[in-house]
Amino acid sequence: MRALIACFLLHSSIISVLAQLTLPSPPWLPPENSTGAIPSNNSYPNSHWSTLIGELLYFYEAQRSGELPSTNRVSWRNGSALDDGREDRVDLTGGYYDAGDFSKQTFPLSFTLMSICWGATDFGRGYDLANQTVYLDDMLRWGLDWLMKAHVEESRLYVLVDNKDIGNTYWGGDRSIPTPRPIYDINNSNPGTDVAAQASAAFAACSNLYAHRAFDNSTFSTPASLRDQTYADTLLTRAQQLYSFALNSSGGRKVYQKSVPEAASAYSSSGFGDELAIAALFLSWGTNDPAMFHAAEDYYTRYKLSESNRVFNWDSKVPGLAVLFSQIAQSRPETGRNLEQWKASAEQYFDDIVNKKGQSFRTDGGLVFWSGDSDHASLNPALNAAMLMHRYAPMATSEEKKKSYLSFSKSQLDYALGKNPMSIAYIVGINPNSPSNPHHAMASGGNDIGTIDTFPNQTARILYGALVGGPDVRDRFFDIRSDWPQTEVALDYNAPLLTLSSMHVISGTNDPFYTSLEAGAYAKVKPSGFPCDAAFKEGCEGPTLTKEGRIAMAVVLTVVCLIIAGLSAWWIRLLVRNARQNK
Ligand SMILES: *[C@@H]1O[C@H](CO)[C@@H](O)[C@H](O)[C@H]1NC(C)=O
Ligand SMILES: *[C@@H]1O[C@H](CO)[C@@H](O)[C@H](O)[C@H]1NC(C)=O
Ligand SMILES: *[C@@H]1O[C@H](CO)[C@@H](O)[C@H](O)[C@H]1NC(C)=O
Ligand SMILES: *[C@@H]1O[C@H](CO)[C@@H](O)[C@H](O)[C@H]1NC(C)=O
Ligand SMILES: *[C@@H]1O[C@H](CO)[C@@H](O)[C@H](O)[C@H]1NC(C)=O
Ligand SMILES: *[C@@H]1O[C@H](CO)[C@@H](O)[C@H](O)[C@H]1NC(C)=O
Ligand SMILES: *[C@@H]1O[C@H](CO)[C@@H](O)[C@H](O)[C@H]1NC(C)=O
Ligand SMILES: *[C@@H]1O[C@H](CO)[C@@H](O)[C@H](O)[C@H]1NC(C)=O
Repeated sequence: MRALIACFLLHSSIISVLAQLTLPSPPWLPPENSTGAIPSNNSYPNSHWSTLIGELLYFYEAQRSGELPSTNRVSWRNGSALDDGREDRVDLTGGYYDAGDFSKQTFPLSFTLMSICWGATDFGRGYDLANQTVYLDDMLRWGLDWLMKAHVEESRLYVLVDNKDIGNTYWGGDRSIPTPRPIYDINNSNPGTDVAAQASAAFAACSNLYAHRAFDNSTFSTPASLRDQTYADTLLTRAQQLYSFALNSSGGRKVYQKSVPEAASAYSSSGFGDELAIAALFLSWGTNDPAMFHAAEDYYTRYKLSESNRVFNWDSKVPGLAVLFSQIAQSRPETGRNLEQWKASAEQYFDDIVNKKGQSFRTDGGLVFWSGDSDHASLNPALNAAMLMHRYAPMATSEEKKKSYLSFSKSQLDYALGKNPMSIAYIVGINPNSPSNPHHAMASGGNDIGTIDTFPNQTARILYGALVGGPDVRDRFFDIRSDWPQTEVALDYNAPLLTLSSMHVISGTNDPFYTSLEAGAYAKVKPSGFPCDAAFKEGCEGPTLTKEGRIAMAVVLTVVCLIIAGLSAWWIRLLVRNARQNK
């Protein structure tokens, strides 16, 4: 009997080893930020880019919800939100908190997982070289396993846990998150085409990674080595179910906030055609089915997606579509088609950005900026564009274009990593010139939204590896905790940076820009006063005046006006008199 049990235990431990890569002991931990100020020896693989991958992944660990495993590396985190879904008899514990607060959001989470899996499939070797594939695996499964829980039936998906009610958000630690936490689903009668299709795309893209379905390996790199065919098959089944749900629910096709209005305050979707297209594309890659590729092309036309080709982010996938169409058409000619047409479409978009035509412009400091999209988190659209261009560059139709895409991509990445008018590396904990006050309740150590900026005076924990929103349109960064457009962190912000870092580990030995920043550089140029953005209006006016000041200013202006009026009347009279005399 005992032998039987031992055999069973051995067997199950082998299964669990096969299922997931074993985390190292001792674990990899982020180094002190001073390490990021010491240039490396430029050996291969580059140690700083490798460390950066590790830190970016570590951030996701700080965002974990639910019971934490014994391998948890973030010492100041506790198990939390352990009752999610319980009132409705569904287990929605686990997953990731979306940003600086405690809501769980399926739409941006799915985009994040899709983006990271895509990057780890076509530029995955960087994770291997950095010895971070084991943490990539751990990070992905934490998200995917939760997404499978949220997908409770073929045609039912939970899309939101705890409403992000701006202005009334709980600000505090993970031990006293207010309950009950409301949960919201989409289903056959109240569908959400976009979020179902986006979750499908996440499952399909990650299935491709776990199945090691590589892109053309003369153009792209190999997938990160975390092969697990059983897991890949499970993910693919989920992807197919969700695609059918997105396409064929009895409630028709609609954006998800029509079914779940509570989702609108933070992540309102602008359309679902792009999600249908990207889900169909990743599925065509996963199943080698030309019909799915053609379906994606049909969505592109039917929903006039070329007209909304603006930024690549949680809401809009359009700029990524032309790139993925091209990759599949090139790597699998038996599945994809119209390679030249899709490349032309990708290059049109990139050339407009590079040549400063079209809808974007450049700040004085060199950051690419889209009015509206960039105002709420300026680095995210820039890094997504940089990631897409670097990915596409090896397919460019001319050497000149290839160079311009790589150089644009580098310029944006350099900007985010310190080559900017603030001399700041916009990732928490990576360098002594990193942001100190991310908008993140748990890291701050505060417990009252009313005193968010003053208590505690100094941020309690360093949120290693978190990219913040970024500077304003004038390249200014104020590092104020309550200033969410500039200092908030989010699951989707880190995604393009992971892929870019993996690309850089693969492609070269140069350090990221921040190793050349001088100690104290940011402190020297840090602006005083307030920003001008959605969280602050103070910085939008000139120097602010007190009420007395404004009255005094009004009096002075009136007097000046009267004097000018008097002088000009006198001057006109003089002119008229002279004119008469000259007659
Ligand atoms: C650079 O190389 C030298 C000699 O090989 C070594 O002592 C030093 O620790 C290295 N520095 C870094 C940052 O790796
Ligand atoms: C990865 O691990 C190998 C083997 O332990 C080691 O030689 C190498 O330096 C590590 N690479 C990085 C970037 O840490
Ligand atoms: C985790 O629990 C400890 C012990 O109660 C507490 O000091 C710490 O603040 C908690 N962490 C967070 C993020 O709230
Ligand atoms: C379907 O979703 C809507 C919107 O979330 C919800 O109000 C409704 O209760 C759900 N229907 C069923 C049968 O659960
Ligand atoms: C690329 O893939 C082909 C076919 O699978 C294989 O034979 C070849 O060795 C691969 N090349 C590289 C550089 O990995
Ligand atoms: C959608 O429904 C149609 C009609 O019932 C069916 O032919 C098609 O296969 C379904 N598509 C998917 C993806 O389930
Ligand atoms: C850098 O690390 C030191 C030591 O942990 C810490 O005191 C300091 O606040 C950190 N600075 C930044 C910008 O992260
Ligand atoms: C904030 O910290 C500074 C420097 O550590 C200190 O001088 C100041 O008194 C603190 N302010 C408050 C309100 O605690």
